[in-house]
Amino acid sequence: MKILILNASPRKNGTISQAVERFAEGASNSFMGDFSEDVRVEVVNVNDLKFAPCRGCMQCRKCGTCCLPQDDAHRVAEKIEACDVLVVAAPVYWGNMPGTLKMLFDRMVYAMMGESEMGIPKPLHKGKDAYIITSCTTPFPFNIFCRQTSGLVAALKEILGTSGFKIRGKVVIPGTKAKKGLPVHAGKCAYRLGFSLAW
Ligand SMILES: Cc1cc2nc3c(=O)[nH]c(=O)nc-3n(C[C@H](O)[C@H](O)[C@H](O)COP(=O)(O)O)c2cc1C
Repeated sequence: MKILILNASPRKNGTISQAVERFAEGASNSFMGDFSEDVRVEVVNVNDLKFAPCRGCMQCRKCGTCCLPQDDAHRVAEKIEACDVLVVAAPVYWGNMPGTLKMLFDRMVYAMMGESEMGIPKPLHKGKDAYIITSCTTPFPFNIFCRQTSGLVAALKEILGTSGFKIRGKVVIPGTKAKKGLPVHAGKCAYRLGFSLAW
């Protein structure tokens, strides 16, 4: 069981990085407990990656790979192809995902979906699970009403859903300006129960 976590926060000790750590621990324990399976969790820090932006040439739709010179976006695409579970962890920036993460997904379309002659997407990851972890300074319930975390979740659902991933759960952490730290079992609960946690 390969679990790949994309951490799109530049802050190594920020809310998202703490939640990723907790989630990884929880995921390992859950899977080992339930299935006695070999669980490998890999975390990719998106801000450490070096890659060129998509040029929009659309060649990847024909040849199934990106024609830009090999860089970290190609390497992450391979990891996504090989994973069983994808976790996307990102702080809200302007009501959406950080630009770095969006740039990465723009480069990896060929690894996420195919396309029919008519331009209809063909998901490449059917049968795989995905999870979303997000945080923002806007407090609950305004993170939802004002489309802050809900804006980011909708944008990721578009990418992950179109790619065939089933979103099994999300961890939503609003109000990070006023509240510091995470509940101890947050990640573990989210993974096991497969539904939204807000606090
Ligand atoms: C460039 C930038 C844009 C942001 N935009 C929003 C926003 O639109 N709404 C919001 O509630 N918080 C916004 N924030 C705050 C972050 O989402 C919040 O501090 C988050 O908890 C950071 O998580 P981290 O510490 O794990 O990186 C923004 C932060 C930055 C740096």
